[in-house]
Amino acid sequence: MDKVTIVTLSEKKQKREPIVMITAYDYPSAQMVDEAGVDIILVGDSLGMVVLGYENTLPVTMEDMLRHTAAVARGAKRAMVVGDMPFMSYQLSPEQALENAGRFIKEANAHAVKLEGGEEVLDAIKKITSAGIPVMGHIGLTPQSIHRIGGYRVQGRDAEQAEKLKKDAKLLEEAGCFSIVLEAVPAELAAEITGSLSIPTIGIGAGPHCDGQVLVYHDVLGIFQEFKPKFVKRYANLRKEIVDAVSRYADEVRKGDFPDEAHSYR
Ligand code: KIV
Repeated sequence: MDKVTIVTLSEKKQKREPIVMITAYDYPSAQMVDEAGVDIILVGDSLGMVVLGYENTLPVTMEDMLRHTAAVARGAKRAMVVGDMPFMSYQLSPEQALENAGRFIKEANAHAVKLEGGEEVLDAIKKITSAGIPVMGHIGLTPQSIHRIGGYRVQGRDAEQAEKLKKDAKLLEEAGCFSIVLEAVPAELAAEITGSLSIPTIGIGAGPHCDGQVLVYHDVLGIFQEFKPKFVKRYANLRKEIVDAVSRYADEVRKGDFPDEAHSYR
């Protein structure tokens, strides 16, 4: 079993083999998605919403991310593990960005880090990659900037925004990113950006022409149901399965049917 590396991902782009990425936040989910054969596991700061119950990703801390990334790294055998740098862990200075990126590698065993933004984060990316740490970029809808963007909206619909996204993608590639997430971008624009880069793009709400796709684990499995963006496809309804199973357990305890002899010691 060959481990997925940035070389594997670059080869996949050249061979036009789609790259599969999904988020995970703990040891068992990492084991399961790894067993399912995904290429990249992103420990996304989306954990703030789907695991910790925050309204958005902004309150997520380095300590939250390191704890969850380390758990995922223990569960992943083949997939590349990417740790998502939380809000204000890389914006202060390139030195701060490198220090925190280094913690993902040294303390949490991540293979790479991801950070949001275009032109404004180039110095941080250059500093991190110059220390040998692979960086995944993230442009389009960048949830850490929701207050500036004005909510969770599709990006790049007007010509000015589209030009900025194309320019940012090129700059991220030149700064040394090994891949770029394109979030909530019109499919045609994502296709154009993908065709203009030698590094793979990973789309989420960016249509079918990216080099890979990413979705959030709790969305794919129907565990998180507070809202559902258009791009989310649910492949299971585990929320219902879990509520049903726990209701049956509660029912049996209340009726005195559990534990029975088969589940008791003599
Ligand atoms: O935090 C996250 O899960 C992400 C993906 C949605 C790309 O950034």
